Amino acid sequence: MFITLEGPDGSGKTTQIRLLYDALVAAECDVLLTREPGGTAIGDQIRTVLHDIENSDIVPETEILLYSASRAQLVGQVIRPALAAGTIVLCDRYADSTMAYQGYGRGLNLEALTAITDFATGGLKPDLTLFLDLEPEIGLTRRKTSGQEWNRMDRQTLDFYRLTRRGYHTLAEMEPERWVSIDASGSITEVAAAVWATVQRRLNLQGQSPCG
Ligand code: TMP
Repeated sequence: MFITLEGPDGSGKTTQIRLLYDALVAAECDVLLTREPGGTAIGDQIRTVLHDIENSDIVPETEILLYSASRAQLVGQVIRPALAAGTIVLCDRYADSTMAYQGYGRGLNLEALTAITDFATGGLKPDLTLFLDLEPEIGLTRRKTSGQEWNRMDRQTLDFYRLTRRGYHTLAEMEPERWVSIDASGSITEVAAAVWATVQRRLNLQGQSPCG
């Protein structure tokens, strides 16, 4: 089972995926938590380049290729071997971020992005994508007050975030069996309960009974 979390900046993905990981460990599941960009030594180096505020002159094509290079490394080195071993893989962002941010947000050619993504991942798609949906204004306010690292991608305009969110909605509509949208405006506990209920249903976990 390959599960990804998607959503705008400030939607609480990173907190929620950690809580989901803890819940799966408590249910005795064999689970691995990783993230994009990054998740490998090479990917973390690429993440540093992508997030560096000094790199504001990066051209869109370079940006997409760097995200894709990080993804290719993560899929080859971490995700495919883990899935082959029967491990549940949780990933904080994946290829849908490229379609939403570079495709719908920056307006890059969607067919080209799909081809690059297929090449990078060998066509590996998540079984379940949880989308933490939030108004961009709320996400940005949360980001500014969170005390977390402020990176190059946080410098986008509100219009960019609106296009990105609309892109996510379009992607979810195209593959409704893979996507589950969760309202991320609630408290951490409320959102975590919705995430856990969805994953329990998909994994067929009953109450406290363990995995497998
Ligand atoms: P994060 O740590 O919040 O996930 O930050 C990653 C940033 O990179 C976030 O603004 C989304 C962006 N991003 C893309 O633009 N394209 C991608 O393919 C990925 C994985 C992330």
